[in-house]
Amino acid sequence: MTDAIGLHDQRPARHFNRTAAAGWISRVVGYGSALPDRRMTNHELAAMVDTSDEWIVQRTGIRERRIAAAGENTSDLAIRAAGSALERAGLTGADVDLIVLATCTPDRTLPSTATRVQAELGMTRGIAFDVQAVCSGFVYALAVADNMLRLGQARTALVIGAETMSRIIDWNDRNSCVLFGDGAGAVVLRAEHAEAGEPGGILSTHLYSDGRHQDKIYTDGGTSSTQSAGKMHLAGREVFLHAVVNLAQASQDALAANGFTQDDVDWVVPHQANQRIVETLGEKLHLPKEKIVLTVDHHGNTSAASIPLALAEAVDDGRIKAGDLVLAAAMGSGFTWGSALIRW
Ligand code: ACO
Repeated sequence: MTDAIGLHDQRPARHFNRTAAAGWISRVVGYGSALPDRRMTNHELAAMVDTSDEWIVQRTGIRERRIAAAGENTSDLAIRAAGSALERAGLTGADVDLIVLATCTPDRTLPSTATRVQAELGMTRGIAFDVQAVCSGFVYALAVADNMLRLGQARTALVIGAETMSRIIDWNDRNSCVLFGDGAGAVVLRAEHAEAGEPGGILSTHLYSDGRHQDKIYTDGGTSSTQSAGKMHLAGREVFLHAVVNLAQASQDALAANGFTQDDVDWVVPHQANQRIVETLGEKLHLPKEKIVLTVDHHGNTSAASIPLALAEAVDDGRIKAGDLVLAAAMGSGFTWGSALIRW
């Protein structure tokens, strides 16, 4: 044990895990993404704070990130990503009966961002709500939607990760302002009877959190405490160390629960926090770099949007194909972390 809440003492005594069972399963039938037009390069940041393109690239792998325009809100990005996911699935908003939207940068304190997406998509029935697990948000939202589909509470679900991280960044803090970007990604899930085809879709989800680490990445405000969203602060090096351990553990749990080894994995789509975190994870899992989808160089860390953005890019460019085994793993503020194993 390194300290009271150190690296070796962070695995919860119990965790909840649900693997595929007979009955309903959720298949991914569509995907989409949306990015703001504005690109911000490292050189622009170097004109704002004491940093350099060389430092940022070497320590993080990030070269540029997208920044939402004034008036371009999280819901606007989410609506675009969801619309393109529905189009690829050959569906409209009227076909959807569940929206689970992961974000830590909602348009408003209330109502949920998901309900604005619901209205804009022309979906007038069903369920829409937000999930808040910061950078793990997409994996959490996927788990919630998958469980609801399996229980028969919905048939068709939109799972969205959408963020405007630029709105909670302190642009004078070089420790954090170089890391984040804005964007959104979405997938459409469809419940199918397991007997109807090959076992596939979402094979398992594993979720974890350990609130003892809530002050390692945090905002210095919030609705209840300061009546404002506040700005983000992080203990980068500590987060880095925990991220590698937790991402590896969640990934190994996913493989073990399904009887797979790392050799069975076609693609790892990790949360895009830092290229070095992702590469260290690859080494820990004994997975070659060629199997890891990396988008942090041009997206930065887009929090809950990072995994669906990376998924969309890798499917679009032909890397991820139908039938591939895809391992997604995320870790974020809280700490929260988790994994999802998907037969694409
Ligand atoms: N430009 C130049 N120097 C900088 C910058 C910057 N933008 N930021 C920090 N430094 C300095 C520090 O002040 C420090 O200087 P000092 O030694 O004089 O004190 C030095 O660089 C080294 O700082 P470290 O924190 O040790 O650098 P490290 O190699 O750990 O990289 C980083 C920092 C990039 C933040 C890394 O730790 C990281 O990516 N951490 C995790 C990312 C994260 O927190 N993500 C938040 C979401 S959670 C998640 O996604 C997992």
